[in-house]
Amino acid sequence: MIKLRNIRKRFGKLEVLKGIDLDIEAGEVVSIVGPSGAGKTTLLQIMGTLDKADEGSVVINGTDVTQLSQKALARFRGEQVGFVFQFHQLLSEFTALENVMMPALIAGRSHREARERAEELLRFMGLSERASHKPAELSGGEKQRIAVARALINKPSVVLADEPSGSLDSANKAELHRLFFDLRDQLGQTFVIVTHDEGLAAQTDRTIHLRDGQVVNTTELKANKKAEGSGPEGAALGNKEACKEPEDAIPNPGEDTILPDIIPEPDPAPFSPTQIPKNHTA
Ligand SMILES: Nc1ncnc2c1ncn2[C@@H]1O[C@H](COP(=O)(O)OP(=O)(O)OP(=O)(O)O)[C@@H](O)[C@H]1O
Ligand SMILES: [Mg+2]
Repeated sequence: MIKLRNIRKRFGKLEVLKGIDLDIEAGEVVSIVGPSGAGKTTLLQIMGTLDKADEGSVVINGTDVTQLSQKALARFRGEQVGFVFQFHQLLSEFTALENVMMPALIAGRSHREARERAEELLRFMGLSERASHKPAELSGGEKQRIAVARALINKPSVVLADEPSGSLDSANKAELHRLFFDLRDQLGQTFVIVTHDEGLAAQTDRTIHLRDGQVVNTTELKANKKAEGSGPEGAALGNKEACKEPEDAIPNPGEDTILPDIIPEPDPAPFSPTQIPKNHTA
């Protein structure tokens, strides 16, 4: 799904990333941890095409993004990558619903399509009642969940989150983390999450430990891996990562949940959450 090869980045004399190789499979929730200054945000920004590596390749769903023109890259990013930041970065002049709709409108979807999808997402997050609220009228936890909805509106291949719960209290933190796993379990959504939260990292399928611009260790949580074909999304995504060792799998509470309205999309690809582009290779 995402392949990083020999990613190197320097800022002046400072070598921030020293040759990172990383593969993210569809449907995985991967965390990136490490001390401040280790290069986590830099790596995430390069993965999300917001920044360019000095060397190395970034392949997302079979597309080598280093080969794309600026214009093609912006379009690709808008459609394939969702971002969640530490501070929600919602637009204060717009309502929650409008904020969620925004990336869809920018991507050229009709107002109606954007609105329907945004309403579905808000429903899924239990935030329908807050749709007409502006950011200043929302709690911190609500704002972050709105930011997650906004990240999902274009049905991206991957959501990249940089310390998404860093500004939340423990109850809102827990709720946001639960949401990530619900979205993975029910929509097959792939997440890469930079976090200082050990509790969250421990729940993820894989934790990449970064130090001084290098991957020093990777820990895997096999118990979180979904059994192959255990849900429609697993099959639809062709999730190869799905449980290499099924005997290690334990039942995941999310798997029994009824799929939300969002799943059976009346509209065909290219706007489907479970789409696999033809050039999908991972
Ligand atoms: N645009 C920039 N120009 C110069 N140096 C930068 C720039 N961005 C990051 N750095 C430096 O690169 C190093 C890695 O930064 P990065 O933001 O990736 O760290 P991080 O692991 O995300 O840290 P934190 O946990 O504090 O967010 C730091 O030493 C930082 O000062
Ligand atoms: Mg950072």
